[in-house]
Amino acid sequence: MRAALGPNDYGAATATAETRDLFPRLWHFVGFLDEVAAPDGYLVRTIAGVPVVVQRFDDDIRAFRDVCSHRYARLHATDSGQGPLRCPYHGWTYNRDGVPMGIPGNDACFHLDRADKAALALARYEVAARGRFIFVRLVPGGAPLDEWLGPLGTWLDAVSDGFAAPFSQAPLDWRADWKMGMENVLEVYHVDAVHPETFRTVTEGAWICAEHGPHSTGTIGLTAETRRWWDGVAKRLKLTPLTRFTNYDHAIIFPNLAIGLTAGLMASVQTYEPVYGPDGGVQPGRSTLRYRLSLARQQPGASAAARAGVEAHLADFNRRLLAEDQTVAEAAWAGTMQMDRPALLGGNEGRIRAFHAAWLREMGR
Ligand code: FES
Ligand SMILES: [Fe+2]
Repeated sequence: MRAALGPNDYGAATATAETRDLFPRLWHFVGFLDEVAAPDGYLVRTIAGVPVVVQRFDDDIRAFRDVCSHRYARLHATDSGQGPLRCPYHGWTYNRDGVPMGIPGNDACFHLDRADKAALALARYEVAARGRFIFVRLVPGGAPLDEWLGPLGTWLDAVSDGFAAPFSQAPLDWRADWKMGMENVLEVYHVDAVHPETFRTVTEGAWICAEHGPHSTGTIGLTAETRRWWDGVAKRLKLTPLTRFTNYDHAIIFPNLAIGLTAGLMASVQTYEPVYGPDGGVQPGRSTLRYRLSLARQQPGASAAARAGVEAHLADFNRRLLAEDQTVAEAAWAGTMQMDRPALLGGNEGRIRAFHAAWLREMGR
């Protein structure tokens, strides 16, 4: 097997192969249980070009292809919200098995009996949660979610228990392959050059890394100034830090989920995903970075105004940081398309090597 990815692994043919061979077989983080907690709550995400709805039915959540069995309208018009699984075109309503049970005019026009309706059930997918993190897998039969996560499952438990709902989140459009985004968060070598005014002021010392199957972690110390700032914030806002995480602690869950924790008080949950057209075809060289920033859980009695001020500051800092990353990731992707040999990875880029090895294994290359 090859040791590292080369330019061809970032181009159009590979993006198509990933859509076919990689993403359908892997657990894919889609959102938090909080987002589908309300009655009839739903989320819609595209996985490997397939629009997938995660829909709440009473005490259960289920995942289906978000396409009506009648004349193929999309069932939900928004990425998230509250509403039954009912097609907006002619009003077919689907039950928790994805079977269209409410069909306006059925007796007069369609004459569908129970078996006919069952045959029209929506394509259903595996859905599983670890803590508040919801994952969907299109093709069944691989490792169960907990097995796939391995020791990284405890990261999701900790973030689920310790952090509030996001105070800032958005999708961002990058002109770079999704793997460029992942590689960028797997090393801190670029921090001096790319983030002199932002991330560079936050961390110092050595980046200590570990591999966990296809996933990996990295941790680096915080500067004294950053620690002081976060101590002050924790006191003012009455935040309860995660005691297990005291540095800048980072984990990726293959293929595309990244979690960064600062002083056990702020979590940044990111996904880097390919972009697909309405026909499900992948758009090479484009990706969506979706970020979600959360603060540690708060005891009662803190000032809402103080919290709003801290959140606004952190949201702005994060936007500046990500804009700096976007510039270099896009430049690196454009450069990759001009080259014919793999990039050189140093000893401080071991997590990228591990990511490449996992990718090559999963792609069978
Ligand atoms: S297309 Fe959905 S009900 Fe007709
Ligand atoms: Fe960065």
